[in-house]
Order: sequence, then structure tokens, then C-alpha cells
Amino acid sequence: MKMNSMIADVKEVLIPSEEIQSKVREIGERITEDYEGEKLLLVGILRGAVVVLGDLMRHIDLPCEIDFMDISSYGTGASSSGVVRILKDLEEDITNRHVLVVEDIIDTGLTLSYLRRSLLARNPASLEIFALLSKPSRRRVDLEVKYLGFEVPDEFVVGYGLDYAGSYRNLPDVCVLKPEVFGNTETS
Ligand code: IMP
Ligand code: MG
Repeated sequence: MKMNSMIADVKEVLIPSEEIQSKVREIGERITEDYEGEKLLLVGILRGAVVVLGDLMRHIDLPCEIDFMDISSYGTGASSSGVVRILKDLEEDITNRHVLVVEDIIDTGLTLSYLRRSLLARNPASLEIFALLSKPSRRRVDLEVKYLGFEVPDEFVVGYGLDYAGSYRNLPDVCVLKPEVFGNTETS
């Protein structure tokens, strides 16, 4: 970990950058094989998936486009209700297209399961999910994730796209913050 301005807030590096990079490469190669002969549309969920999408797409050796959605789940604080509000919709029409949703982390699974249903209603040729991280112990709905990077314990993680109060997305590793960082949201 080279980023000294943030290292003081980190309790533990959970997944070092090198491990993330080799996993993302491996999954990119799998995707390349699985979609051979097809054209793919990667749909990144803002804002957390931006970092992994940027790396993943460079390991996909296929004709490929990208698009983004910004969604917010209704609910109080940390617990999501499963009802999702679309803040920014896709620019692309996904009818008859091969869509791969790219998400940073799946927690309860409520957000993606709602989003999946709403995208399926637009009749894509196929719809699969990539998630860099998953917290299986927190899952509240069944959700098929075809491409999964890593399972993580039930701890709040940041880095490689994931934030706490908007910050830490640019850490190259997936990290757990020190407990004293939470509550102090004056992270500039
Ligand atoms: P859920 O699967 O509907 O519960 O919500 C998943 C969303 O919650 C993710 O897209 C993240 O934005 C956020 N999230 C869940 N756990 C974490 C975490 O540990 N760090 C950062 N964001 C998280
Ligand atoms: Mg998110």
C-alpha cells in the first residue's frame, strides 16, 4: 500500500491490489471465452463499480461497449429495503443485447435483485452479474452471480472503488477501516 495520506485510517488490508488484479484478469478471460462470437454491453453501477469496470474491460477480448446506471435504494441508513430508485438510467437500449452488470459488492442482494428484474423487463438477449465482492452471510435474497471475485466477511470495506462517506475509492487495495474513522465523516 503506497497511498500514505489514507493509510493512517486503514486497520487491515483485506485483499491486496495484486490479488485483485490477477482475479479480475482471470474473470475477464473467462468472460472472453463465455461470450465468444458475441458483442457485450457492460453496465457499471455507479459509482463503486467504476474502478473494477475499467480494469475488467481491458481483459475482455471481445467487441464491447459500456454504459452506466446510478441507483439508490430506499431504506434507513445501512439497511436497504430492496426498492430501488433509478437516479441515472442507461443511455443504451438493451433489447436483444448481451448485458453484463458490473457491481462492486453484493451485501443483502436486494439492490441487484430488484435491478435484475427491471432490466429483464427490457428483454435483453442475456443478463448476467459480475460482482467484485460478496458478503454471503448478509444475503437476504437468492441471487445468481455468475462472475464473483471474492467473498468477504461481514465487515465494512473500502478501496478499489468502494467508499466510506464518499472517500477511499482510490485506495488500490480492499481494506477495512479503523473503527474510530466511522462517525468522523469529515474525510476530505
Ligand atoms: P445490497 O446488496 O442491496 O444490500 O447493497 C449493496 C450496496 O451497498 C453496494 O452496491 C454498496 O454500494 C453498498 N455496500 C454494501 N456493503 C458495503 C461495504 O462494505 N462497503 C462499501 N459499500 C457497501
Ligand atoms: Mg453500490
